[in-house]
Amino acid sequence: MNTVKTLRELRAAVTHARSAGKRIGFVPTMGNLHHGHATLVSKAAEQADFVVASIFVNPLQFGVGEDLDKYPRTLAADQEKLLQAGCHLLFAPTVDEMYPDGMSVQTRVSVPQLSEGLCGASRPGHFEGVATVVSKLFNMVQPDLAVFGQKDYQQLAVIRAMVRDLNMPIQIIGEPTVRAEDGLALSSRNGYLTEEQRAIAPVLFRSLRHMASAIQNGDRDFARLRTEQIQQIEAAGLRLDYLEVRQGLHLRPATAEDRDVVILVAAYLGATRLIDNLHLNLPA
Ligand code: PAF
Repeated sequence: MNTVKTLRELRAAVTHARSAGKRIGFVPTMGNLHHGHATLVSKAAEQADFVVASIFVNPLQFGVGEDLDKYPRTLAADQEKLLQAGCHLLFAPTVDEMYPDGMSVQTRVSVPQLSEGLCGASRPGHFEGVATVVSKLFNMVQPDLAVFGQKDYQQLAVIRAMVRDLNMPIQIIGEPTVRAEDGLALSSRNGYLTEEQRAIAPVLFRSLRHMASAIQNGDRDFARLRTEQIQQIEAAGLRLDYLEVRQGLHLRPATAEDRDVVILVAAYLGATRLIDNLHLNLPA
């Protein structure tokens, strides 16, 4: 696996692969990779002949006071994991390579409605930063397909909408969340948790599962289900950001008639913000 840092080198390598008739798969990441990322790369390797991953901690998607500076940079370990998972080329640009004229004059991509509410409410500008960097990376790599984790459900919905609205000829694949044995969704941010916090964190998945099984058994009193589980989450010592039952595609509040439903949660454990979700396809 080659690692390149410049757009010029990236383009040369991708052009070479494409001229050999290869289908290009892409996995954008911010590094500090875990097993969940490896499954994204493996999926891309299954669906494409030449897999490009990127590692770029994108300042544009971090708000003031968020963890941009302390976000772990673990390039050597990440390279090893990407190689094992079947990646052929790693693009690891600098901030200057991505934003040569500075971020304040950078053209932005914004996806209305889907970017508002949920994580967008507590992280203003976050999804504009994500949509902007992902569209830049798409234009740089020009992949046939790109793979994202369903753990970042709202992010995936924003990217799907961006690709559709801007007519980008890229297939977007969402891969199921990878979990630890106790149900905690794998996340680079889990590394911030103390041992004690790590033991508490699976309460989020337990709450999602509890709500999911009630909904699957016909309970449509979403307000009551939320209240009960908010109590559980707060009793465990987390500070809730949101717990919502939404329609799976547009992310508007779910109604009793919806069949495509997602339960989404975000909560702080100390200073660490954790998110998770469960998607349900309910029988008609
Ligand atoms: O999910 C992430 O790691 C990031 O938001 C992404 C998609 C790589 C954009 O910076």
